[in-house]
Amino acid sequence: MGRTETGKDIQKAVKVLKKGGLVAIPTETVYGLAANALDPEAVTGIFEAKQRPSFDPLIVHTDTLDKVSSFTTHIPEKARILAEKFWPGPLTLVLEKQNIIPDIVSSGLTTVGVRMPNHPLTRELLSQIDFPVAAPSANPFGYISPTSAEHVAAQLAEKVDYILDGGECKVGIESTIIGFDNEEPVILRLGGLSIDEIEDVIGKVKIMPHSSSNPQAPGMLKSHYAPKKKFYLGEIDELLKDHPGEKVGVLTFEPMETGHPYHFALSKKGDMHEAAANLFSLMRKLDNSPIETIIAERVPDTGLGKAINDRLSRASAQS
Ligand code: TXA
Ligand code: MG
Repeated sequence: MGRTETGKDIQKAVKVLKKGGLVAIPTETVYGLAANALDPEAVTGIFEAKQRPSFDPLIVHTDTLDKVSSFTTHIPEKARILAEKFWPGPLTLVLEKQNIIPDIVSSGLTTVGVRMPNHPLTRELLSQIDFPVAAPSANPFGYISPTSAEHVAAQLAEKVDYILDGGECKVGIESTIIGFDNEEPVILRLGGLSIDEIEDVIGKVKIMPHSSSNPQAPGMLKSHYAPKKKFYLGEIDELLKDHPGEKVGVLTFEPMETGHPYHFALSKKGDMHEAAANLFSLMRKLDNSPIETIIAERVPDTGLGKAINDRLSRASAQS
């Protein structure tokens, strides 16, 4: 296969997908690693490229509600309201699937995660194919999700047939996932659409506490989104005392004085959207810096802050 080509050629991406190949696609949340969701062999390629365990189901991406109806059996009333309000956008709805969605996509569950991503290149791509694409985040399993074409190329280059370059992801963290328990919505993963925005539209929603043994969302393993370096989360002053003289990289919400050269702030002015958009690329930057340990603080637990804190605490789960 040689070096993977990166570019903005939608026709090439369409061609690769039609032939059963893998295309990295830009979305507003993170880059996805896409294949024809109706072709089990193509989907197997995703699991191999990511070294992803087969018990972790994939999200299926498409661009119209008619297409969604062609592979799901039932859309709960509140799901429809959310879809109409927030799609295309950083929201995944877990819906009952038709048999046309192969078991490998849903890990044998009777449901399928569905999302309409909001990125002009990918929307154009999806409008030109008559099948949905299954796409997990385009990173090796367990590592930090990619928010640029360069991130994808750095880790999966040889394993992908084409990288569709749509620039940097604007939201920067994965979609919020909502499942339904007897028509009642349950948040299965915090993400780029905040709880407040959701509750404004459909009222109070339950939030599933994450757990690695949660059969509803088998992919929500506690340790995830993790850098290779040791990653500690807590009060910056205390963490700095705990790691004296070490080559420490620092990640804070806003700029502050630490005297460390590898210190990055998620936001210049305390803006949660800016912090989310910068989170994964700064974690990556620190992971690639000549330091030994990364220390980070939580952000305020409001709006997207909850999802950012979720990613930070999972990144630190192994350390
Ligand atoms: O923003 C996103 O959602 C990105 C972009 C590429 O769209 N995708 C993404 O996919 O984050 P991934 O594979 O990293 O996360 C998929 C997760 C699974 O780990 C699982 O937690 C949940 O979605 N999921 C998928 N299908 C499900 C189902 N049928 N029931 C419950 N959870 C499901
Ligand atoms: Mg992922």
